[in-house]
Amino acid sequence: MARLLAADDEAIATGARLLREGGLVVFPTETVYGLGADATNATAVARIFEAKRRPRLNPLIVHVADREAAGRLVVLNDAGGALAQAFWPGPLTLVAPRRPDCPVAALVSAGLDTLAVRVPAHPLAHALLEACAVPVAAPSANPSGRLSPTRARHVAEALGDAVDLILDGGPTEVGIESTIVDCSAPDPVLLRAGGVSRAMIETLLGARIADHSARHAERPSAPGQLASHYAPRARLRLAASEVRPGEALLAFGPDLPAGAGAAVMTLNLSETGDLRAAAANLFDMLHRLDASGAAAIAVMAIPKSGLGEAINDRLARAAAPRPAA
Ligand code: TXA
Ligand code: MG
Repeated sequence: MARLLAADDEAIATGARLLREGGLVVFPTETVYGLGADATNATAVARIFEAKRRPRLNPLIVHVADREAAGRLVVLNDAGGALAQAFWPGPLTLVAPRRPDCPVAALVSAGLDTLAVRVPAHPLAHALLEACAVPVAAPSANPSGRLSPTRARHVAEALGDAVDLILDGGPTEVGIESTIVDCSAPDPVLLRAGGVSRAMIETLLGARIADHSARHAERPSAPGQLASHYAPRARLRLAASEVRPGEALLAFGPDLPAGAGAAVMTLNLSETGDLRAAAANLFDMLHRLDASGAAAIAVMAIPKSGLGEAINDRLARAAAPRPAA
């Protein structure tokens, strides 16, 4: 079982050290408890998906101590800047383009060129973020498909074995997740209702804001998922047992398929067949293989157990026929 510590100064220092060492630390925010890992450490982030048993590698929210720290990760446009000024720290998450030098692992934003960032108001979350001095990726600390936790006890019961430390800050105040506003285009879009109401946002901006379902009404098949769909330019050929001329290879495990020697470029998700390493490498390697200019990427079969389910889900999405742009 993970240690459950009342969140005093010493516990926060321990949590900060564990985060910097690649550990998983559960911490209270004013909305719900978060399951945190160092966002710049892809292997630590892969452990989040493993612990939650997420069937999909959805993008995660990155938590930072203040607006300056957020500004080192993303570029906020006018609306984003106004929302940050008004509601940070607080239960608001902003989606914005990653800065070119953004140190956050590609896995956190599931390969997208945007990042969801928030500055929590909870004093313990703030103290932890200051102390660890790295951006912290954290989804709600519940197993996938279950209710978000508002008490440390909920987390201990459901995820206790999978995390390194639980910081107990008592019941959370807001109890529902943060509001998510996408500011990556000139007109902001409400992606998720939450702790800051639509009315508060519209009053501040002096304009109505569209919600996600309106913008994507023409493609209703996968609400919430289209925005997080990373599609490489190159075609993906899954479960490939040979590499064809002109293809790049995304390998897995020690044994390469026939034709691998002639691949345009080869990257191995994990030479030892470790699924955590594979998840950590997935989006970064897809980007690099795509940049090789190969028309297609042959992807070796990945086992479906454990994190393999989420990896296969993402690969299937990236390989799916694309709607005409
Ligand atoms: O209150 C909260 O927001 C809590 C606490 C722990 O901060 N966190 C939380 O995280 O609810 P999570 O992972 O359960 O929800 C993250 C949501 C997902 O629905 C995801 O699709 C969206 O944020 N998201 C993350 N990055 C995104 C991006 N780049 N573009 C669009 N949506 C994104
Ligand atoms: Mg959640």
